[in-house]
Amino acid sequence: MIPDSFIEKLKDANDIEQIISSYVSLKRRGGRLMGLCPFHTEKTPSFTVFLDEPHYYCFGCGSGGDVITFIRNIEHLDYIEALRLLAQRAGLSLPEDDFDDRSARQKTRVLEINREAARFFHSRLISESGRPALSYLTGRGLSVKTIKRFGLGYSPPGWEELREHLSGKGFLLEDMAAAELVKRGRNGGYYDMFRGRVMFPIMDLRGNVIGFGGRAMGEDGPKYLNSSDSLVFKKSRNLFALNFAKAAKDDTLILGEGYMDVIAMHQAGFTNAVATLGTSLTEEQARLISQYARRVIIAYDSDGAGQAATKRAINLFAQLDVSVGVAELKGAKDPDEYIKTFGAARFKLLLDSGKSALDFEIARLKQNRDMNTPEDAVAFLRDFCGLMAEVENDLERGVYIANVARELDMDKQGILSTVKAARLKKYTKKRKKETHNLLNAVQDNGRNRENPHKRSPGLVAEDLLLSLLIKNPDAHMKIREELSSDDFANIDNRAIFTVLMQRLGENRPVEPAYLSQELDNAQMSRIGGFLAKSRELSLSPAQAGEYIRAMRAEKDKKTSDEVREMTAEEYRQYIASLQAGKIGRSN
Ligand code: GTP
Ligand code: MN
Repeated sequence: MIPDSFIEKLKDANDIEQIISSYVSLKRRGGRLMGLCPFHTEKTPSFTVFLDEPHYYCFGCGSGGDVITFIRNIEHLDYIEALRLLAQRAGLSLPEDDFDDRSARQKTRVLEINREAARFFHSRLISESGRPALSYLTGRGLSVKTIKRFGLGYSPPGWEELREHLSGKGFLLEDMAAAELVKRGRNGGYYDMFRGRVMFPIMDLRGNVIGFGGRAMGEDGPKYLNSSDSLVFKKSRNLFALNFAKAAKDDTLILGEGYMDVIAMHQAGFTNAVATLGTSLTEEQARLISQYARRVIIAYDSDGAGQAATKRAINLFAQLDVSVGVAELKGAKDPDEYIKTFGAARFKLLLDSGKSALDFEIARLKQNRDMNTPEDAVAFLRDFCGLMAEVENDLERGVYIANVARELDMDKQGILSTVKAARLKKYTKKRKKETHNLLNAVQDNGRNRENPHKRSPGLVAEDLLLSLLIKNPDAHMKIREELSSDDFANIDNRAIFTVLMQRLGENRPVEPAYLSQELDNAQMSRIGGFLAKSRELSLSPAQAGEYIRAMRAEKDKKTSDEVREMTAEEYRQYIASLQAGKIGRSN
C-alpha cells in the first residue's frame, strides 16, 4: 500500500491542470477547463477538467478520474508506473517497499536487452561477416551516415548467436523471450527469432529500442519479419521514425508504407517521414499523427493495394483535426524508388503540389468512367455530390464544385443545390445521432444489472449518495447504519462504496486521487462521471435519507418485476425462502 501522505505530496506537486494541459489543449469555461478528449475522437470539446474536487470527465466517452488515473490511461501504464512517472516529474521518489513492481522491472530489462541486441546487430553489420548485408544496404543507396543514424544491423544466420551474446552479458532467457528476440523451440531450447536478416530497430519517442523489423536479403522466408507485441512494443500504437520526425519540428508529417521508404526519405532530407510497423494504419496511429502534425501527406505505394490503403487512411484522418494530402507517385512504385528515379528536388515539388485528399477521391470517382457518356457522367455527379456534402469548408466546396462544373461544361447551380440538399439531410441525421449519444452519455453506461439504456431513479440515487459521501464525508456515520454494499445495484458502485466506507471509517481522505489505488479505471471513470454530473446539487447530509429511499424503492420494484417472471418452481422456492427470512426486507 502506498501511504496517503505520499499521495498527498504527489497530488500537491502535480497540479491536475498542469499535467493534463501537457497532453490536451484546455480552455477555461466558467469554473472548468475544456478540451478535445484524448481518449476518443471528437470535434467539439466534451473533455472537462474540474479544479475544486480535482478530477476530469469526458461527457462524450465517459472516461474520467483523478490525475493518476489520467496518466494511467494516457500513457497506458499500471498504477505504480503512473505514480512513478508523476513522482519523477515532481522530483520525488516512490516509497520503494512492499509493492510488486516486477513487471516494471522486467520492462526495464527488456529495454536493456533490446538496446544490447541493436548494438550487437549493428556491430555484426560492420564486421567482416556482415559484408553481404552491408553491401545490400549500400547497394540500395543508403549512405554509411544513414545506416548509423538509424542504427541498422544484421542478424547472423546461426540459431543462437544473439542468445549466446546476451547470455554472455548476463541477461536471462526469460527476459530475452519477453523481448520477443528468442523463441522456445519444440525441444524446449531457445533459438534466435531473427536470422540472416537486415535489421531495422524501432524506437519510441524517448529513444528506447522497443522492437525490430528484419528484412530478408534473398527469397527465403517472408520478406519482412517484425517483432511481436511485447511488454514494451505495441505495433498499433507506435510509428517507425517518429522519434526523428518529431525532432524535425515540422508541422507536416509524411506517412509511408515501409521502413526502406522512410529511411530513403530521411536520407534525401525529408526528416519528417514516418511509417506504420508492418500493419495498416490504426486509429491510434492516426490520432498520434494528428497530435504531432497539422498536415499529413500520405505517400503509399502506387499499386492497387497502396491506393486502397490510402483511401482507408484518408477516412481515418477525416475524423481528426489534421489536413490530408496525397503524394501521387507517378512513374515509381514507392517513395524510395521515386527519389532514386527523379531525385529529391522533384519529390519536394510533388509534396508541395500535393494533391489534397479530395483531389485523390475525385480522381478515384472518375476512374473507369467515361465522362462523355451520360450514364457515367450522372453516376459520377451523384458520387461527387455525396463527397462534397462531407466537405465542411464552404470555400473549398465552392472551388471543387466550380471546377467540376467547368470540366463537365454544365451550370454549377444545379450541383450546388443538390449538395445543399444532401448536406441538410446529413445534418438532420447527425443532430439526431448526437442527441441520442448525449442521452446515452448522461445515462448510465456502466456495468449495470438493469437494462443499460435505462438509467433508473434508483441508480441515480446510488450515484448521488456516493457523490455525497465524497463531498460530505461526515454523512458516513448515518449512511453506514442504513446501507451495505449489497444495496447497490451497480457492481462498480458496490466496490466504490466499500472503499469509501473503509477509508471513512479510518478517518482517511476520500478525494478521487486517494481512491485510484484501490479502484480500477472503469470505477474511477464512474466517480469522474457522478462528481461531474452532481456539481450543481447541494448534496447535504440531510438528503442521504431520500437517496436511500429511492434505492430501496427500486430494489423492491425490481423484486416484484422478477417475481412476475418466475417459473412456478422458482416462485415456490422464493416463497419458501421468504418464510425462512432469507431474502426480502419489510419496508
Ligand atoms: P523493400 O521491398 O525492401 O523496398 O521494402 P518496402 O518497405 O518497400 O516493402 P513493401 O512495400 O513490400 O512493404 C511495406 C511494409 O510492409 C514493410 O516495410 C513491412 O513493414 C511490411 N511488410 C512487407 N512484407 C511483409 C511481410 O512479409 N511480413 C510482414 N509482417 N510485413 C511485411
Ligand atoms: Mn520498397
